[in-house]
Amino acid sequence: MCGIVGYVGKREAYPILIKGLHRLEYRGYDSAGVAVVSSGGSLNVYKCRGKVCDLENYTKDKDVSGTVGIGHTRWATHGEPNDVNAHPHYSESKNIALIHNGIIENYAVLKDALIENGYTFQSCTDTEVLVQLIEYIKSTTGVSLFEAVQAALKRVVGAYAIAVIEKGNYDEIIAARKSSPLVVGVGDGEFFLASDATPIVEYTDKVVYINDGEMARINRHKPLKVVTLDNQEAEIGIEKLEMSISQLEKGGYPHFMLKEIHEQPRTIVDCIRGRVTPDGENVVLSGVLANKEKFLNARRIIFVACGTSWHAALIGEHLIEDMCRIPVEVEYASEFRYRNPVIYPDDVVIAVSQSGETADTLAAVEVAKQNGAFIFGICNVVGSSIARATDSGAYIHVGPEIGVASTKAFTGQVTVMAMVAMTLAKEKGIMSQDEFREVAKGLQALPSLVSQALKLDEQILDLSKMFTYAHNFIYLGRGYNYPAALEGALKLKEISYIHAEGYPAAEMKHGPIALIDSEMPVVVLATANNIYDKTVSNIQEIKARGGRIIAVVSENDTRVKDIADYCITVPAAPECLMPVVVSVPLQLLAYYIAVHKGRDVDQPRNLAKSVTVE
Ligand code: G6P
Repeated sequence: MCGIVGYVGKREAYPILIKGLHRLEYRGYDSAGVAVVSSGGSLNVYKCRGKVCDLENYTKDKDVSGTVGIGHTRWATHGEPNDVNAHPHYSESKNIALIHNGIIENYAVLKDALIENGYTFQSCTDTEVLVQLIEYIKSTTGVSLFEAVQAALKRVVGAYAIAVIEKGNYDEIIAARKSSPLVVGVGDGEFFLASDATPIVEYTDKVVYINDGEMARINRHKPLKVVTLDNQEAEIGIEKLEMSISQLEKGGYPHFMLKEIHEQPRTIVDCIRGRVTPDGENVVLSGVLANKEKFLNARRIIFVACGTSWHAALIGEHLIEDMCRIPVEVEYASEFRYRNPVIYPDDVVIAVSQSGETADTLAAVEVAKQNGAFIFGICNVVGSSIARATDSGAYIHVGPEIGVASTKAFTGQVTVMAMVAMTLAKEKGIMSQDEFREVAKGLQALPSLVSQALKLDEQILDLSKMFTYAHNFIYLGRGYNYPAALEGALKLKEISYIHAEGYPAAEMKHGPIALIDSEMPVVVLATANNIYDKTVSNIQEIKARGGRIIAVVSENDTRVKDIADYCITVPAAPECLMPVVVSVPLQLLAYYIAVHKGRDVDQPRNLAKSVTVE
């Protein structure tokens, strides 16, 4: 959600800012802008509606020189996406420029007060209020920009990551964060600033994560200074960035999403590496083992998550209840945080988040913390806010996910959840070694099973052409396959804009079956399991009403093949791991339908990869 980038040093800032904005575009892409202090000292702001390439066109004939600058790619919260509402925002005198990710909740009160003091506003954004407030404080009290930002932020209620620069100041960016991420890259006589490390990785591997409630003075001639809003000096921990540039490029694929779908055999290898022992006799998840008493004595486990991560959590519920006999609840983080939930100190709360930055999930973690629960994180982005806010956790290690529709992170999350369940089941001693070994061997085989499923690519490409006409889709599954059906439906609606709903197959007859006619494609996950026969009956019910059935079946299937209009055959895995295998054809189906419809697959309308506002 909104991407922030900044540079101060000896190089020209503009090319670094533009490249960084391209890297961050997945966070928001309705408008973009840059501000640069030119060699003559003027503060130039250029911004426009559209994508970063539109901004590049717009600035072609402009003076973009300067060695200090900030850039922004926007996902609108206050004010429609247009040129004026795009960031950076100028202050009244045009001496200060600011970019912001987040929401200033008390902006209306602050705005009224500033208007009374003669300030005028160009945009409908909450952000413009902040830059005006900074200027007001600076001009009325004579303090430095750093002090003015500090004073202004003390009056602000809400969430923010900001970067501020000033006319005539070639050396400095002031940055601050509360509930929105910011990371500083430390170079030789130069600094980089960004919402995440992706724009920084090609310049330096030394990074400092700014903590919540901290602000930074980033001056090219001075050591980095980080303080709290109350001016308490914070410790600066320089961390080494483990990321490669090739992970951030498409590698010959037309879209990041397709690349990420095809990466899954490797990402699952990375996910289980060093965790499942080669003989399949053990699973070692250190974050769980180090806190095993918390888990084993847990009254309940509560998952909190949003979007795709919430679907993965539903699978986690099955896995943990099934293997460990610990009661599990799965909560939408956005609901959990506001509904005064009952949380016991002996609950374990598992926060699941690819980005580790989702505002609602982070807030749910805080609520759980205040109630004394033990918090475990399942995140992808190393060093992210949720990863750092939790007591312990396990990374999914799938590498940067850039396509807005989550694919490899989902399968990584499910894989980690299987390992969490197995680790606990072993500790509890309630799973026979034979059963344990079967699932462990299944985990080891997953990369090759996913590779086999990826060979369906061409079949699904052909199949997808037949369904671009559809306005609605239904996805059905039961047991472990039910959350996979929800996720399949979400993938399709996110990137193709076709309305799609997922249901437990047996729930069909309680309402949704009324939607079935000969126009309605119904994707049914009907792989072999203990309720296969029931699923077959559900398929018959749809067939009897003329629905067009696309069934995902196991290799040895006989019955569904005779009923379904189209069959997608996937290899067998232990039932609890089947959501990973069946997800692959569903990801491909959504992808190819969206491509046929000419959609912007990696950056679908209205969405953002990382939702850092409520
Ligand atoms: C956004 C993304 C989804 C993602 C959800 C949760 O809505 O578009 O793909 O599943 O946020 O994100 P998280 O990073 O917490 O998993």
